[in-house]
Amino acid sequence: MICYVLSDTTLEKCRMTIQKNRRWIDACELRIDFLDEENRAIASSFPETVDIPVILTHRRKIDGGQFTGSEKQRKAELLKAMDGAFAYVDLEEDLKRGELDSKAERNGIKIIRSYHNFERVPDDIYAKVMQLARRGDVAKVAVTPHSVQDLITLFNAERENRGIDKIIIGMGEYGMPTRILYRRTGSILTFCSENETAPGQISAQKLRELYHADEVNDRTAIYGIIGNPVYHSSSPQIHNPAFRAIKFNAVYVPFLVDNVRYFFMLAELLKMRGFSVTIPHKIEVLSYLGDITREVKQIGSCNTVVRKPGLWKGSNTDYYGFLRPIENDMDEGRIRRALVIGAGGASQAVIWALRNRRIKVTILNRTLEKAKAIAKVNLCTADTIENAPLYAGKVDLIVQTTSVGLGEDVSPIAGFPFTGREICYDIIYKPRMTRFLKDAQEKGCTLHFGEEMLLEQGKLQFEAFTGYHYPKQVHPEI
Ligand code: ATR
Repeated sequence: MICYVLSDTTLEKCRMTIQKNRRWIDACELRIDFLDEENRAIASSFPETVDIPVILTHRRKIDGGQFTGSEKQRKAELLKAMDGAFAYVDLEEDLKRGELDSKAERNGIKIIRSYHNFERVPDDIYAKVMQLARRGDVAKVAVTPHSVQDLITLFNAERENRGIDKIIIGMGEYGMPTRILYRRTGSILTFCSENETAPGQISAQKLRELYHADEVNDRTAIYGIIGNPVYHSSSPQIHNPAFRAIKFNAVYVPFLVDNVRYFFMLAELLKMRGFSVTIPHKIEVLSYLGDITREVKQIGSCNTVVRKPGLWKGSNTDYYGFLRPIENDMDEGRIRRALVIGAGGASQAVIWALRNRRIKVTILNRTLEKAKAIAKVNLCTADTIENAPLYAGKVDLIVQTTSVGLGEDVSPIAGFPFTGREICYDIIYKPRMTRFLKDAQEKGCTLHFGEEMLLEQGKLQFEAFTGYHYPKQVHPEI
């Protein structure tokens, strides 16, 4: 079940929120601590006015809620609300049993016994689950992972607490995979809410339409992307719709990763079939691969990892992803000399790809030493960015690989005298039209966008993951 957490101040607003999200959700949690006093007094009427099961919750400030009154008052308000046809009531583990329990039993309301920890994942979490569930209640633990190691602990709950009705939630940024793969923690439901801006939160629409979280089962093949940061990535939008189009029971999930070694352990635990790798793990991941392609060996970085019998195999689709949009121009001999701006991680695949096509390359970088070092191993030349104008009219292709222009309207070669004959290619994809490309367009240059490379490398990853071509009918929004 996908359960929507209602945090509106009136019941009417809550109903409107449900209506808006209805096609993506199966249940909702009515947080009466968010309701104004008037509406809280009539909360019992709510379940009959909606067509999905409702969880009743009255959360204290210390557990992340809004309620600041006395325990006596909270209990009284809960008891009153329990006259309504709620499917579940959430009662914190330290709340005294007695009246609340017996009323729940009388009214056929199931109890969710909950434990919150906003600081960490406690060591004794499996014992906690058992303790919470000992009277047949649903055990809920909402804890805060800070590492991949913590995620391993949470995903192990499926095995450690098998057969227990439970809800395991990893809050915060690291917890996102537990919300998407909730069925792999053995949870009966996952929560979502309007407020996707809070770290680790995810919208109802995404859970249902992008991840199909409710359809993940034992046979679902799990793929993902590792990075830090990672939640800005468009790769889930590339892979998930394509899995669906070829009717492949698979899901692609973003993982915030602090430690690559532990991630490989998690990948074993989840029996992952493969994953994409982004900054800053493209080099570190090499230590854990049993096999790598020629490109990985040559470029020294890997962005695609696939499970093969007994080992993980790494490839680099950035290399071909970069080349594909300019393939025709190269075949037809229109590119002989290229200028590559930047000498960071991203430029290496670009330079190697160009050199392999026997294109003469000059690397321009703010820090000349870095450009020289890369130039040396790739047999090309190097210069500083300030000297860019010296190359005007002498190159057929200019590739922008620095982070300058990422989310801002600046170019690393502002004022460059384009002739209009150059092919200009920016590997930044947010924004689509960077300042560098705008300047080039004004002079009539041919443009190539970072999103072309992103999409092409993603399509090639899809092939590596599934063995199928990327479905033609899928046009991902990135
Ligand atoms: P990535 O892996 O994305 O390429 P990186 O390895 O940090 O990231 O490289 C960033 C590139 O952007 C480098 O070429 C960097 O130049 P330096 O080697 O001189 O650091 C370049 N870059 C970043 N900020 C820049 C700026 N303000 N002006 C010019 N170049 C910049």
